[in-house]
Amino acid sequence: MNILIIGSGGREHALVWKLAQSNSTGRIYCAPGNAGISELAECLDVKADNLTGLLEIVRIKKIDCTIVGPEVPLSSGIVDLFEQHHYPIFGPTQKAAEIESSKVFAKQIMSKYHIPTARFQVFEEYQEALSYLKTQSFPLVIKADGLASGKGVLIAGNRPEAEQALAQIMKEYRFGEAGRRVIIEEFLSGEEVSMLVFSDGKHVLPMIPSQDHKKIGDGDKGLNTGGMGAYSPVPFFKEEQQKLVLQKVFQPIIEGLEKEGRIFKGILYAGLILTGESFKVLEFNARFGDPETQVILPGLMTDLMEIVQASLGGYLDKIELNWHRQSTVCVVISSRGYPGAYQQGMIINGLENLKDREDIMVFHAGTGNRNGRIISTGGRILGVTAWAETLPEAIEKTYQGVNLIDFENKYYRKDIGKKGLSLSPDLVR
Ligand code: AMP
Ligand code: GLY
Repeated sequence: MNILIIGSGGREHALVWKLAQSNSTGRIYCAPGNAGISELAECLDVKADNLTGLLEIVRIKKIDCTIVGPEVPLSSGIVDLFEQHHYPIFGPTQKAAEIESSKVFAKQIMSKYHIPTARFQVFEEYQEALSYLKTQSFPLVIKADGLASGKGVLIAGNRPEAEQALAQIMKEYRFGEAGRRVIIEEFLSGEEVSMLVFSDGKHVLPMIPSQDHKKIGDGDKGLNTGGMGAYSPVPFFKEEQQKLVLQKVFQPIIEGLEKEGRIFKGILYAGLILTGESFKVLEFNARFGDPETQVILPGLMTDLMEIVQASLGGYLDKIELNWHRQSTVCVVISSRGYPGAYQQGMIINGLENLKDREDIMVFHAGTGNRNGRIISTGGRILGVTAWAETLPEAIEKTYQGVNLIDFENKYYRKDIGKKGLSLSPDLVR
């Protein structure tokens, strides 16, 4: 089967890498891809939001199945478009993907189907939102409704901060149309974990949970980023609790979406907050996470293409997922300055030191080729990923890998995975 992967980040490199190991894949294409992906797949210079360009690739290259990485093509309706042309594609339709692209829709459907989430109110009028603030205690969370590249969530410690956030979203249109409606919601404290499932619209198959590190600085300090590293599994997120999340979150939401005429096929990702025994959903994403995918897929033993086909065919209940018993850690190396302004075009040295390792994989994100050298082309550049029997060993191995790579203005967090250790004292020897 010829496969097309859409996207250009570490997540897509991990998908291509895993699919290249499948027995049922033939030629693998990626649009637009990156330097690392181009070693495993043919990269085509069409951007992820160019739906007609992507459709053209499917025609010309005789693609048998397309897999979508990022949220933008999903929320623009790529699945609907491909289905109209009878081209198999793995991902939710535009209406189903609204679970990610509209936070208001996500909150409303969670309420309707009794899925545990933070208390909230929706506002369309600035003045009404402003008056509501007077009745609330702080901190509070203010969210723009639509997609805002992960930047549309503002945590306000007091009323002036909340008023400023509302003004930015509703008066200054900082997030454009995405801020036409806002959600004001209760602040939840606890540990955030990511739980992803494959869904065929009726049945769900869970993946091993992971934990992302969204802030730029060690100790979760500083600005939010696309994700600076992850690890999996999460030792303090116990199996019993995972089962409850399946029962109380994934099953009702999948059934709810079906009842609403928005059958969800693809990857459903719940960002959860755990507080002791209880859990709540912070958000849903309609796709694989980045960098979560980089730590989940190395442990997957079942053929990924078989799972994708079972999802498309509606028979996920007929297959079982098998996982290696290992811990996996991914440390993202970025350009210093990210998520603010940063330099591009730096030559990356040392990648050859990690080639052909069976227990380390460097997933590329913002990389390209120039005169036969690999250079940086983005803020998040590489995700060094290593696996070992235990979390402490995987952390150590990953950082050994990080130290073998060198470029100007290299930056990375030094504490990826440490929370997994400190919150699970039984792990530390
Ligand atoms: P979201 O896009 O809704 O997941 O929000 C992005 C980030 O904001 C989350 O990963 C959390 O770190 C934080 N966040 C969102 N909602 C809340 C909440 N109700 N309480 C505390 N933190 C939140
Ligand atoms: N790691 C966060 C996300 O993929 O949205």
